[in-house]
Amino acid sequence: MWGGRFAEGPSAIMREINASIPFDKALWRQDIAASKVHVTMLAAQGIVSQADAEAILGGLDTIAGEYEADGVPEDWDLEDIHMTTESRLAELIGPAAGRLHTARSRNDQVATDFRLWVRDAIDQTLAGLDALQRALLDQAETHAGSIMPGFTHLQTAQPVTLGHHLMAYFEMISRDVSRFRDARARMNHSPLGSAALAGTGFPIDREMTARALGFDAPTKNSLDAVSDRDFALDYLQAAAQCSLHLSRLAEEFVIWASQPFGFVRMADSLSTGSSIMPQKKNPDAAELVRGHAGRIVGCLTSLMVTMKGLPLAYSKDMQDDKPPVFEAANLLGLSIAAMTGMVADSTFKVDRMRQAAELGYATATDLADWLVTQADIPFREAHHITGAAVKLAESRGVALDELSIEDLKAIDERIDERVYKALSVEASVAARASYGGTAPEEVRKRVAEAKSAMGAGA
Ligand code: ARG
Repeated sequence: MWGGRFAEGPSAIMREINASIPFDKALWRQDIAASKVHVTMLAAQGIVSQADAEAILGGLDTIAGEYEADGVPEDWDLEDIHMTTESRLAELIGPAAGRLHTARSRNDQVATDFRLWVRDAIDQTLAGLDALQRALLDQAETHAGSIMPGFTHLQTAQPVTLGHHLMAYFEMISRDVSRFRDARARMNHSPLGSAALAGTGFPIDREMTARALGFDAPTKNSLDAVSDRDFALDYLQAAAQCSLHLSRLAEEFVIWASQPFGFVRMADSLSTGSSIMPQKKNPDAAELVRGHAGRIVGCLTSLMVTMKGLPLAYSKDMQDDKPPVFEAANLLGLSIAAMTGMVADSTFKVDRMRQAAELGYATATDLADWLVTQADIPFREAHHITGAAVKLAESRGVALDELSIEDLKAIDERIDERVYKALSVEASVAARASYGGTAPEEVRKRVAEAKSAMGAGA
């Protein structure tokens, strides 16, 4: 049964299981940048000669050009991006290449490269979220007064405005932005110079390399520095949380775009047709954002389980840290871009949403509130009276404001003509002007605040 694999011989299996170059080649830019900083520091400290350092820097630039033009070669014997680059450097400049790895190990090297990569990923994520937030703000401003049903249990509850609904997602994304910024601030320390695990006897300058790579400071404990992957987990946790928000928003679009709802017409560019049913326009992008959230959460789980129970310091299990992070970053970037397009390019059917808001006795709470404020009835009693009115309207198949004043008075004589004003969906949303409420003027205030907080161009 295992013959096929064994026939290749144990060394072939080792070669294959050991090789991370198929995926860690994605770190090449960070690897070269960190090597350049490292060798510059070695020369400044007199650990390598200026001439060797210049040869190494020139060689690294040449290699960067080659990778840029032709991609990174995948030779499993060279295991990973670090050895691949170092071996090419030796081909290009000869024995001086061997001086680059002075006072360094692949353990602090990979920890540094990967931090830089995750930091870049966070910056890209933040740029994507900024665009999504601006799209949400624009639609929320346009639809600050567009009335739709608000739901609890996906049952019509009270009328709300679409602007208010979209601003709820703006709030979620704002928290995501803050989580990514926190993760960035927490991770921004340089492991470079921690060497294999114990530090080094060479007179290196870790402040210098940290600063040159844009880190705030060097890490404080070499054992921790080479074996810590919290920065990747912080990123994945923020990504997982963000993907849940995107998935919920995507689900709203799936529901809104369905024919029985008909609240939105999604852009053709983010939908697909059916190969058999000509009338279909499917919300595939939204469904895939929903699906991707499951995979992103899986990436987080994967790395958490990888790290669980690893003793200090580096263990090779940690090489498996990269695929889930790369995958999550790719899926999250796509999901953010898809949702930005969906929010920006969808056409909301405001008449249809308004009609839907009138179904389901969405203003029943307004009747109860009216009884409290205008007739001084305790809320519990008002709730009861309103229940009777809804029951009557339901049995007649009419809306609450279609009941005659005689019918309403028969239920409770304290009701008078003025009540009709309270029963329209417009009056209902306008009344909810408490801070953070759905009233159009309130939504406009929140949008304006958010726009100015996001700065010029918002
Ligand atoms: N490719 C390795 C990784 O990503 C680099 C570190 C190797 N270190 C070692 N001690 N074998 O984890």
